[in-house]
Amino acid sequence: MKSHEKLTTASGRPYVENENSQSVGSRGPLLLQDYILHEKMAHFNRERIPERVVHAKGSGAFGTFTVTHDITKYTKAKIFSEIGKETKLVLRFSTVGGERGSADTERDPRGFAMKFYTEDGNWDLVGNNTPVFFVKDPKKFGDFIHTQKRDPYTNMKSPTMMWDYWSLNPESLHQVLILMSDRGTPFGYRHMNGYGSHTYSMINGANERVYVKFHFKTAQGIKNFTNEEAAEMKSRDMDFAQRDLFVNIDEGNFPQWNLQIQVMTEEQANSQDYYLNPFDLTKVWPHGDFPLIDVGVLELNQNPHNYFQDIEQVAFAPAHIVDGIGYSPDKMLQGRLLSYPDAQRYRLGTNYEQIPVNRCPFATNNYQRDGQMRVDGNGGSYPNYFPNSFDEMEIDQAYKEPPLEIFSDFSDWYDRNCEGENDHYTQPGNLFKIMTPEQQQNTINNIITHMSGIEGPMKEEIVNRQLSHWYRTDGRIGAGVAAGLGVDVDLLER
Ligand code: NDP
Ligand code: HEM
Repeated sequence: MKSHEKLTTASGRPYVENENSQSVGSRGPLLLQDYILHEKMAHFNRERIPERVVHAKGSGAFGTFTVTHDITKYTKAKIFSEIGKETKLVLRFSTVGGERGSADTERDPRGFAMKFYTEDGNWDLVGNNTPVFFVKDPKKFGDFIHTQKRDPYTNMKSPTMMWDYWSLNPESLHQVLILMSDRGTPFGYRHMNGYGSHTYSMINGANERVYVKFHFKTAQGIKNFTNEEAAEMKSRDMDFAQRDLFVNIDEGNFPQWNLQIQVMTEEQANSQDYYLNPFDLTKVWPHGDFPLIDVGVLELNQNPHNYFQDIEQVAFAPAHIVDGIGYSPDKMLQGRLLSYPDAQRYRLGTNYEQIPVNRCPFATNNYQRDGQMRVDGNGGSYPNYFPNSFDEMEIDQAYKEPPLEIFSDFSDWYDRNCEGENDHYTQPGNLFKIMTPEQQQNTINNIITHMSGIEGPMKEEIVNRQLSHWYRTDGRIGAGVAAGLGVDVDLLER
């Protein structure tokens, strides 16, 4: 609580009156000179900034990452340099398709975006609560997302658009199955896993590269809403996940996630002997082939002091890597490297990296200058060009990554469905098999409920096309969904 401070204008002039505008007598019109009235109204009119084009509804907190196991043979990243090492972070959870005011319990993937403030710079890992994604080429992202947003004609969400797109893009099947399982409606944010999802690389002190997947397993245990519970919660508390996270942290019940990685050597990735493309975002690396390796513990232990300042303005970017962690040839990751900072320059402004939550707490130096809202000293009197004869800025070749061997030819550009790339069914089928009978039945019921929303002249075609994908995933899903939708399967087969 602030006490005994004077209310002032933004320029520091004390207010003498905050509720009555200056007027010509008590019943007369207002005076143009009432600058305080102008300032209050004008600032209010500018309070809203563009919401994120996806993942607009979110919740976040600050925390700590602590190393529990030594992985320095894989990476020289300072965040992993020794057991016991602690690094501060901010994490933002989100839903994907809804607007900023939408309900937390919608059936949707959940964002799991982290910014680690490391001595080598800020490392952002911008993941989801699922290990895979709906599409494997960034050119498809905007089309796909349009199907998750409002129909341009009805201005309503449209299961017709969603299933039309998914049924025409069977590479989405793996993610769609996870979405339709009860993991599509997690019980808030504390009871779900986070995944880096993409394949990234790690580079060690000897400048050797391995490929990695990041898994953050909830220490609270997996807990989900059923479809009915999620719908009920939507009407009872739209902000259930925000409340659950905030209250638990406020009460000192700090949620934790255990970080594990999977590692694939460069030779394994390049050999092309493995039956799947390690850089395909619609596939997981089976644990049996690439076991999980323990790394550390992430804990959220501090609520933001101000939501807008710390969470609405936070800007994550998969492009933000640090020494010892690198990209991979995953095409989706490559697309995302460009997209996020571009979106943030629009959403927050050119100098968005200077907003406190986005700032690297360690030294940053470059020749970028000026632009709207530049407030960090702007390089002072130092030169604003390179090379120059005045400062002693170094470009350090020690940070150079080892060269990347590429086994590909130009024709791959066109043939994304070449051999080994077009099995969209085995992994979702494996997932269905490891579900308990209750999870399987809930998943089938959730699909039936969701697909029941398909309508219009193309309904039969869309339903049948998607049914053929479900049959190929697991006959039990196909048969269960067909029966639930009242589709005559005999007629389908003929
Ligand atoms: P494993 O049995 O070794 O791994 C299964 C994984 O699936 C576990 O990580 C488990 O996560 C997760 N899981 C269990 N139930 C569900 C569910 N209802 N919805 C989503 N995930 C679930 O087998 P594989 O590694 O061969 O994978 C089999 C299938 O499991 C894959 O095809 C994929 O769909 C799914 N999966 C695989 C992951 C991987 O990285 N290999 C990661 C997540 C899912 P938890 O420990 O949190 O329960
Ligand atoms: C947010 C683009 C795929 C996770 C965003 C934003 C954009 C975007 C523009 C808003 C950024 C902002 O305004 O700050 C894309 C593109 C993709 C893609 C072009 C594919 C080519 C993915 C994938 C994941 C993911 C595969 C997860 C594995 C997220 C998360 C956020 C986000 C978690 C919210 C970050 C936050 O909390 O601020 N995405 N995205 N996206 N995206 Fe993606």
